[in-house]
Amino acid sequence: MTKPKTIGKGTVDFKQEFASSKATNAQMINNRKIINGDDDGLMQVYPLKHPEAMTIFKAQLANTWMPEEVEMTRDIEQWNKKGHLTDRERTLFKRCLAFASNLDGILTDSLVTNVSRHVTSPEVRLVLARQGFEEALHVLSYAVMIEALSMDSEEIYGMYRQDKVLYEKNRHVLESLGKIAHPDFKTGTFSGDQTFLEACVTYQILEGVYFFIVFLLFYILKRNNKMPGSAEMIQFINRDEDLHVRIFSFMINTIKKDQPELWTKEFQDKMASHFKSSAELEISWGIHCMGDGVLGLNPVNIRQYIEFIANTRMQAIGLPPAYKARANPFPWIDEMTQGSMIETNFFEGRVREYASGTLTWDE
Ligand SMILES: [Fe+2]
Ligand SMILES: [Fe+2]
Repeated sequence: MTKPKTIGKGTVDFKQEFASSKATNAQMINNRKIINGDDDGLMQVYPLKHPEAMTIFKAQLANTWMPEEVEMTRDIEQWNKKGHLTDRERTLFKRCLAFASNLDGILTDSLVTNVSRHVTSPEVRLVLARQGFEEALHVLSYAVMIEALSMDSEEIYGMYRQDKVLYEKNRHVLESLGKIAHPDFKTGTFSGDQTFLEACVTYQILEGVYFFIVFLLFYILKRNNKMPGSAEMIQFINRDEDLHVRIFSFMINTIKKDQPELWTKEFQDKMASHFKSSAELEISWGIHCMGDGVLGLNPVNIRQYIEFIANTRMQAIGLPPAYKARANPFPWIDEMTQGSMIETNFFEGRVREYASGTLTWDE
């Protein structure tokens, strides 16, 4: 007799389940986990085990926007008007565009191909699918900016081949994601699960630290009445990224609750040094983009800013903050992001437990 073909990605064999399993929906939902849970692959999300994921998904849908709708007329005038932007501002604008485009390109591809295939909570996979779509929209946003400003696309897209600092930053990102990208990589063992958790921390850094110099530089231009359409595009992207940080914080914290044995002291120390080396890379990137200073930004205050953000991201997943910075040196950014950039209380997502057979649950 041939073995039934397994459909789905978790411990539930779809065909077996259909034919003979006595598992109820309530049992399956109670066994639902971010990784290594029961999952028949049919995306039957309700009732929810992870309502925080559905809250995020609905917030993503409410945030729907289109890059082509952003008004770029003033940017076109300013970009083409000699002397409106200094040479340094033009250089940093192009470098920011190049890096952000590279990183969103990497994320578009890797979320679905590397992360989602290991996730066994359908409601979390909904968020990741939408997140992949949003990263694709971000790639389109940079293309819209390049086209609107009649920039040399080869100069922007090919910059990583010419600019050693950008090349090294991209290489670091790809190497960080490499472990779970291997086709043989699997969860289900201590080391596999720890590697997946490490990858989630890496995504939290990519989404929550590595974009933030770029965002800051676009915002400081807008604050000085330069390139307002581009900054508006970045505001939309920033709003999406806030939710991406939130989903990875939720995934990390939930995996920690499900499998506390993974969160060893050694692992925490490794993640803390991961944050610190990433923050240093982001600060060096900022200095590379702007030189010794531009429009009030300088190596000292951008360091404070990135250290503050890194602290916030670390606290969101239960790591002690690595830096002294306790306040945002640029509080005016809140006006640009409707106060949503830094949220400290969003990460305590609830997990519901179902009463078997009734599909009701206790809060
Ligand atoms: Fe993005
Ligand atoms: Fe993102």
